Amino acid sequence: MPPANPPIALVTAGSAGLGAAVALLFARTGMRVVINYHGDSQRANDLVRQLQAASPLSLRPGRTDFHAIKADLSLRPEIQRLVGETVAIMCPPPSGVAEGYATMTDQQQQQKQHLDVVFSNGGWTQMRDLMDLDDNLVDEDWDKCFTMNVKSHLWLMHAARPYLEASYDSDSNGNGAASFITTASLAGVQPSGSSLAYSVTKAAQLHLARALAKIAAPKVRVNSVSPGLLMTVRFFLFVFWNAVVGWFNLLAYVACICVSGMGLEV
Ligand SMILES: NC(=O)c1ccc[n+]([C@@H]2O[C@H](COP(=O)([O-])OP(=O)(O)OC[C@H]3O[C@@H](n4cnc5c(N)ncnc54)[C@H](OP(=O)(O)O)[C@@H]3O)[C@@H](O)[C@H]2O)c1
Repeated sequence: MPPANPPIALVTAGSAGLGAAVALLFARTGMRVVINYHGDSQRANDLVRQLQAASPLSLRPGRTDFHAIKADLSLRPEIQRLVGETVAIMCPPPSGVAEGYATMTDQQQQQKQHLDVVFSNGGWTQMRDLMDLDDNLVDEDWDKCFTMNVKSHLWLMHAARPYLEASYDSDSNGNGAASFITTASLAGVQPSGSSLAYSVTKAAQLHLARALAKIAAPKVRVNSVSPGLLMTVRFFLFVFWNAVVGWFNLLAYVACICVSGMGLEV
């Protein structure tokens, strides 16, 4: 039996890969979900239809249960707009309240603007040879990794916090906190993964999540998940990249043996 007031979730980078899988799981369990995407609106809209089909919720006139919003997570104003649009679409002021939320009755306030879960899933990397220091010194990689893997999560928490706090239920024996979850990576737990910049900034993201958990308690619970390699598009890029680097190293090695076999110094 679906809940009378289904929880509302925002999933960033949610139209593909891990974000899409999480959005589908949320929809199946009776949540209303907004997914964020960056460029591929066709894919995002296809997923919205899948979420609707997978949901146990019955359509209710005037209520949007699933929606996609385009926003670039590397830009703070875009994140602020994303959160604003999310609550505006999922929690519109009740009809008849011309002044908005300021003059609402108690019953109307139950429909107040809030978020129950934010799955902060954005991330970025550029494939590098982790064991080659020279290959890991590109400034643009470090800047973009820091923006996407650390700052975007901070900006999202800052923008979403008032709406997460609005769903806090102080009467539920400590179980009433809303939830903010970031996707980090195993590469942040131990040096590994697609690049040094990715690994280091994912470690910083884990530290950020611990700090946010202290700052936002008790009204918002903050967690982070650290997946290993997932079989997403990124997975196939990673495998392809390692194959290319591996073949290149093998060829270089064979060439060295051949050259030294000819009596040349290398
Ligand atoms: N894949 C792995 O093996 C792996 C392992 C460990 C951790 N992780 C972490 O898990 C998270 C998800 O990774 P993933 O591999 O599933 O997906 P991904 O390929 O990193 O991201 C796909 C999603 O991100 C959106 N996106 C890309 N750039 C964006 C931007 N600037 N602003 C907003 N959305 C953007 C895409 O939308 P469009 O298609 O519309 O551009 C799509 O919805 C990341 O934080 C990643 O670091 C992944």
